[in-house]
Amino acid sequence: MELSKSYWNTRYKTEDIGWDLGQVSPPLKAFFDGLPEDYKVKSILIPGGGNAYEAEYLHHLGFKEVYVVDVSERALQNFKTRVPSFPEAHLIHQDFFDLEEYRFDLIIEQTFFCALNPKLRPDYAKKMSDLLTENGSLTGVLFQFPLTATGPPFGGDATEYRSYLESYFTVDILEPCYNSIESRAGKELFFSVSKHE
Ligand SMILES: C[S@@+](CC[C@H](N)C(=O)[O-])C[C@H]1O[C@@H](n2cnc3c(N)ncnc32)[C@H](O)[C@@H]1O
Repeated sequence: MELSKSYWNTRYKTEDIGWDLGQVSPPLKAFFDGLPEDYKVKSILIPGGGNAYEAEYLHHLGFKEVYVVDVSERALQNFKTRVPSFPEAHLIHQDFFDLEEYRFDLIIEQTFFCALNPKLRPDYAKKMSDLLTENGSLTGVLFQFPLTATGPPFGGDATEYRSYLESYFTVDILEPCYNSIESRAGKELFFSVSKHE
């Protein structure tokens, strides 16, 4: 199955969005709540943000430089309608892998990695590194369940994830998540990696 723009857009149009929590993901909410004040003006990207409750949460906390990129026009439209005060120019309707003219201090992972064809995993790590500023970091949640041929979501484990990330990043945290929503308990890893010098 080709995970194309139209595949994702149709899933939003038909509301076939089982991944959608309808709220900010609790592990990310805890992470955002602990961010230092200076992050309010740092540039933050949420790739494959979908309905982007994480962007909404940050926006309402006063974070000014939050961006969402998604291939689904409908998802971005949903977000625009729900959060009209969010800067429209920060909603990027594009393929993450085609982003060129941006750099971010922080990138947030939330069910984007698992939505990609697993063959793109090495490219994901490289692109994340390319998009980050010198001391930038990538933080979020990755699934841990066996990788099968069918998805999305596509699973994996910490050892596999390290094999991609360690080419570009220092792995600061990669551990079982203690504050997942009930249906994902035991199936998530919280991670934070910082770009190599
Ligand atoms: C499983 S959904 C997760 C959405 C959101 N992060 C959430 O947790 O509800 C995957 C999202 O990634 C988007 N997506 C898939 N491939 C993409 C790509 N190459 N570039 C940008 N967005 C992409 C889809 O449109 C979809 O919104």
